[in-house]
Amino acid sequence: MIPVSLRWVGDVAGHLELIDQTLLPAELSWLPCRDVPTVVEAIKSLRVRGAPAIGIAGAYGMALAAGEAIRGRMAAGHARAHVLARAEELATARPTAVNLRWAVERCVGMIDRLPSDADAAALATALLAEADAIHDEDRRLCEAIGLHGAAVLPEGGVLTHCNTGALATGGAGTALAAITTAWDSGRRFEVFADETRPLFQGARLTAWELVQRGIPVTVLCDSAAAHLLKTGRVAACIVGADRITANGDTANKIGTYGLAILAEAHGVPFFVAAPSSTFDLSLDTGAEIPIEERAAAEVLRPLGTAAAPDNAKAFNPAFDVTPARLISGIITEHGVISPVTREQIHLVLRARSLGNSP
Ligand code: MRU
Repeated sequence: MIPVSLRWVGDVAGHLELIDQTLLPAELSWLPCRDVPTVVEAIKSLRVRGAPAIGIAGAYGMALAAGEAIRGRMAAGHARAHVLARAEELATARPTAVNLRWAVERCVGMIDRLPSDADAAALATALLAEADAIHDEDRRLCEAIGLHGAAVLPEGGVLTHCNTGALATGGAGTALAAITTAWDSGRRFEVFADETRPLFQGARLTAWELVQRGIPVTVLCDSAAAHLLKTGRVAACIVGADRITANGDTANKIGTYGLAILAEAHGVPFFVAAPSSTFDLSLDTGAEIPIEERAAAEVLRPLGTAAAPDNAKAFNPAFDVTPARLISGIITEHGVISPVTREQIHLVLRARSLGNSP
């Protein structure tokens, strides 16, 4: 069974519900979000996380902003100004994954197309429809990425990093969908998941998803990856992405860059899987990607337990950037970009501008 990470409950006056991922795997609990501050807090604290999923949460957050305007009985102009102010709060909740701003801006574009005297109810109806559309599209994109990804995965073990499955998206996932699609087609191979320090998305979330689906998974400490690759048990690495620049440089969960270097050193192909909404062609190279720095406590007190003296300092970047030259292929909903060059990126993503989406 594919878990659902977030859902809208009710009609236009309804609310967003999301799985509180900070509680997994111990507890499967749904968090109701009835206003924008609750959504912003959920994104910042990683109750909802993963680039596509925070984009979808941001889009539903826009519908909630219009709901706030209805409840506050705001006049049309005031309602529009309120929703646009909320857009900025949502878009800036986390800085690295471009999908968040992309989805919120898509909703702002929808508002721009409405008549200037559209009232709060009209805004809410249009914004919920747009959020639903973004959610539905993501489901289809995940399916296509899963199929393209399964086709490029060679026979043999697969190593993944962080969580890129249903919890991280509106559908079956990106990199993890490639793995589960291959498995569901009858192929059998070992699946390895890096635990993904400091917040253990690999151990807590990827392993949970795979166990839910009955797919055997082996979790390893991030620092065991070099040794595992040396044993020859891994035929390919596959990871997700939070932002991919025009030259193919890819920001993803901290540790991805190190894994890509290890894969190259051991002659193992290294794939990235991401929808076209994760590309930010306005940035030339990965050096321009903003890297989120998170609280020291995540490193010093993993899972709430002291692992270092309280007065130690911590270095806690949430993401790193893998240079394009280390990536064997980027799997998108339109197909696989390989080799990863500016030209190939344009060629494959051109399908997007031609409206050739799955
Ligand atoms: O900090 P997180 O857990 O939101 O980081 C998530 C990742 O880095 C994922 O690999 C990425 O968002 C791709 S999700 C399909």
